[in-house]
Amino acid sequence: MSAAVARTLDRVLADRLARARAADPLFAKDLAERVARFTLEGGKRTRARLLWWSLRACGASDPATTEAGVRIGAALELLQTCALVHDDVMDGAVRRRGRLALHVDVRAQYAGRAAPARVGRLGECAAILAGDLALVWADDLVAETPLPAWTATAVRRLWSDMRTEMVAGQYLDVHGQATAARSLPRALRAACLKSALYSVERPLALGAALAGADDTTLLALCSAGRRIGMAFQLRDDLNDVFGDPLRTGKPGGGDIREGKATYLTALARARAEATGDHAALAVLERSLGNAELTPAGLDEVREVLVATGARAAVETKITRLVAQGLRHFDRAFLEPRSAHRLRSLLRSAADGTPSDAPPAAPAAPNAPAPEDAAPSPAPLRPPAPAPTPGPAP
Ligand code: IPE
Ligand code: IPE
Ligand code: MG
Ligand code: MG
Ligand code: MG
Repeated sequence: MSAAVARTLDRVLADRLARARAADPLFAKDLAERVARFTLEGGKRTRARLLWWSLRACGASDPATTEAGVRIGAALELLQTCALVHDDVMDGAVRRRGRLALHVDVRAQYAGRAAPARVGRLGECAAILAGDLALVWADDLVAETPLPAWTATAVRRLWSDMRTEMVAGQYLDVHGQATAARSLPRALRAACLKSALYSVERPLALGAALAGADDTTLLALCSAGRRIGMAFQLRDDLNDVFGDPLRTGKPGGGDIREGKATYLTALARARAEATGDHAALAVLERSLGNAELTPAGLDEVREVLVATGARAAVETKITRLVAQGLRHFDRAFLEPRSAHRLRSLLRSAADGTPSDAPPAAPAAPNAPAPEDAAPSPAPLRPPAPAPTPGPAP
């Protein structure tokens, strides 16, 4: 399935690049080619895979629906390009997917050609525009995907809500950072909007909507996706502090240096306050938001996160969310073999490394893999309207 998404992205991006070059060669070289490279070369493809296996698990196997699933999956990857390119500017992150972040790469290209401040600004402006371009291309891809009228209504609604939620979550994230927010429910809400929904719940819902799943199935998948999406983001927050940058492809400690109001740091603070641990509070006070924090300073924060029990509590919460999510998942009536693939993908999403067993490549462009061609129950009923996101679990 990843191969089918890659082929679609190849084809769509080649067309978009040709049109970008016709519009202007400098724009094409500096921005459009970077968007295409970023999208084609990296990422775990979690969202596209979740959509695909949700679609298959909900019983879709006809060529028109599977083709639509691949195209919307590819669009999710373009949306992810937009999200990540913009996120790295907002978070002041210098690396992404093991390479320079896009704004840093543009800055490096023009270094020495103008005053550093101007070049820095060019990098950020380029990333804003590159992210916009990726979003526009993602939207085009969705709009150009032929769908039956009743499916189109559900898919467009989900797509629209998902983009809005992601923007809302990113705003809560930077707002929480600027105002040094400390509330735990607020940290969870930001994680839900900025990540859980567009990373897990909405891709599952899109797959189900494309397959015409019934309301009960859709609800079970959304309930599972919400919880596992939360676990996915809590893992990402843990990885920021305790993960190996070589494995994550992003610099460690960024959330601490930026002063992100994550659930992890909010919990450490709450626990230190509750126990009157003034030393721990002092470490958090001087480290969170300290852009100059040294590696030794970051180690001190790690010790506080461990000593307050915040790290262990987040691990426990991840385990609980995944277990709850899988219980919801197991209540859904799904095609067993695809459900098995989807279940292991969901289980591993919160490890930060989705299942490494990639599905077999389709024999023909965008056709389902032979192993997927088994007949399956097809609950082809009109899709339910998109569920409204409630508070984070
Ligand atoms: C990173 O998402 C951004 C978050 C929402 C945490 P992924 O971890 O899925 O990033 P890629 O697409 O694999 O690079
Ligand atoms: C990013 O969250 C969420 C979106 C891109 C919408 P993070 O800022 O935690 O993601 P990473 O850690 O930089 O990948
Ligand atoms: Mg970030
Ligand atoms: Mg961010
Ligand atoms: Mg993060």
